[in-house]
Amino acid sequence: MSFLLPKSQDRPTQQPSRRVEPASIIAVGSGKGGVGKTFMSITLASAFAQAGRRTLLVDGDLGLANVDVQLGIAPETDLAAVIAGWVELEDAVTPVDGGSAHGGFDVLPGRSGSGALAELSSEEVARLAAGLSALALQYDQVILDLGAGIEANCMRLARAADKVGMIVTDRHESRRQGVQGHQLHRLAS
Ligand SMILES: Nc1ncnc2c1ncn2[C@@H]1O[C@H](COP(=O)(O)OP(=O)(O)OP(=O)(O)O)[C@@H](O)[C@H]1O
Ligand SMILES: [Mg+2]
Repeated sequence: MSFLLPKSQDRPTQQPSRRVEPASIIAVGSGKGGVGKTFMSITLASAFAQAGRRTLLVDGDLGLANVDVQLGIAPETDLAAVIAGWVELEDAVTPVDGGSAHGGFDVLPGRSGSGALAELSSEEVARLAAGLSALALQYDQVILDLGAGIEANCMRLARAADKVGMIVTDRHESRRQGVQGHQLHRLAS
């Protein structure tokens, strides 16, 4: 399956510019894992980009990041490098299919299995969330792919979002998932 957009000549080309208002941030969460959050996040980012919106997709699954894997890209840098202080947040942005300035979208990749991201302090997550809100000034739309469940750092990150979408399937313990989803909504608001 490919998430690549149509060829760049078929798409509008935008110049990156700073907005007065930050982009709306949509977080994608779930009670249970493996239900399609990352798939939905990539699909949303791709759809917003195709609609001509400058879009940033953030891998907010701090423990088990895999947006890069699902996109089939190998980013040179990621959020773990940002947390380590090696690069600034906006320097960790990786363009996909030309990036947001050329009709594709941008990605802030995470790092799977990185203890550095899985064990962030509440202050570090708060700084990351504040950085995302500032970076949103350069975009029309930000999609935040969350980790599963209602773990504290997941909730802290979710609070940076204007909207939290819940993925629920009928395949796995849907009743329990629905309850957890309700908790996620409540805790993130
Ligand atoms: N709408 C869909 N149709 C078919 N397959 C899907 C769909 N959404 C997700 N999948 C497949 O289901 C699997 C899990 O999807 P995904 O990684 O997006 O879930 P996730 O909720 O992000 O998982 P995790 O909680 O581990 O982050 C993947 O193999 C993905 O390709
Ligand atoms: Mg995922």
